[in-house]
Amino acid sequence: MHRLMITGGAGFIGSNFVRYVLEKYSDYFVVVYDKLTYAGRMENLQDVEDDFSSRYAFVKGDICDALTVEATVQKYEIDTIINFAAETHVDRSLMEPGSFIQTDVYGTFVLLEATKKFHLERYHQISTDEVYGQVLAGRSTESDILDPRSPYSASKTGGDLMVLAYYASWGLPVTITRGSNNIGPYQYPEKVVPLFATNAIDDQPLPVYGDGKQMRDYQYVLDHCEGIDVVLHKGELGEIYNVGTGEELTNLEMTQIVLATVGKPESLIKHVEDRPGHDRRYALDVSKLRGLGWEPHHTCAQAVEKTTRWYMENEWWWRPIKNGDLYKSYYAQQYEKRLRA
Ligand code: NAD
Ligand code: TYD
Repeated sequence: MHRLMITGGAGFIGSNFVRYVLEKYSDYFVVVYDKLTYAGRMENLQDVEDDFSSRYAFVKGDICDALTVEATVQKYEIDTIINFAAETHVDRSLMEPGSFIQTDVYGTFVLLEATKKFHLERYHQISTDEVYGQVLAGRSTESDILDPRSPYSASKTGGDLMVLAYYASWGLPVTITRGSNNIGPYQYPEKVVPLFATNAIDDQPLPVYGDGKQMRDYQYVLDHCEGIDVVLHKGELGEIYNVGTGEELTNLEMTQIVLATVGKPESLIKHVEDRPGHDRRYALDVSKLRGLGWEPHHTCAQAVEKTTRWYMENEWWWRPIKNGDLYKSYYAQQYEKRLRA
């Protein structure tokens, strides 16, 4: 495993993973393969291009486009595909589910076909705790029944099942990680922590859905990247590994940490109309991955504080996004009515 094709590598977690892997393994060559949707941004990889130009290449392409996928695998003599590419935001999946099904299910199939055709050494799928559905009590283990409840999580579940089908049917060398909510540098400010941090900096209201008592395991993105690395090197083929802190915060607790870090009052909190089908709680049992020697370095609270500081110090990155027409029209569609009510 030395020549990696990292799909979705211009997005939030993918770009953090690319940087992590190139810094850690001096003999790895990385090709980022990315369609550059609104969430995929070349500036997320600017320093990577500067620092690792001899071991890094970028290809603009869609994972649903088999010809370009195959040409890239051949041209760069890829031996491993790590698939981060996906449509990822639950609220957008409620507005427009089609692209989720296309990328997260069909795109996964295209990548598996390429893995099979070119006899690659490994295919790794980046999945999510959301495939288990809401977990009101206890913690999800890897063998639990899947119960997705949004078009996003249903699409990710379809992708996971396709990966497992290729393992069962053809013995493809696959692994899957299911991560909890990631936070950290370069996360598009539609997800809750960067949205709230940047709104707080601008003295804008923080729209908390419903009562704000929903629970999420907010993990620092580099802890997740380390977990993926451990599974790539020590994981068993055909196996699934949960990755998270193993603890949760309520959304209100998370919001209070954001506000305290920015130094803004709790009067900015505005409870708004809830998300339809809002999953109340996700909670992971991460003992299987711990068994491979991995452990997270940040609690949820530390991750929220560290992430908020990054947004306070890196306005150059998010300000142009938030000032753009694309973001403004999404924000108006998602929040204008809610905030007026
Ligand atoms: P993101 O939305 O920031 O990035 C997704 C990337 O995929 C972007 O660069 C985008 O351009 C690219 N992409 C989208 N459709 C594509 C296509 N058809 N072909 C090629 N590239 C395409 O997402 P993220 O938060 O970095 O998530 C990465 C992966 O991790 C996803 O598979 C997601 O489901 C999973 N995941 C995310 C979280 C989280 O909290 N963010 C948690 C667990 C798992
Ligand atoms: P999000 O970052 O969209 O991740 P996910 O829904 O995939 O877990 O949302 C995290 C939590 O924050 C979730 O419980 C929904 C809630 N939330 C809000 O309360 N307000 C918001 O504006 C957003 C985007 C999310």
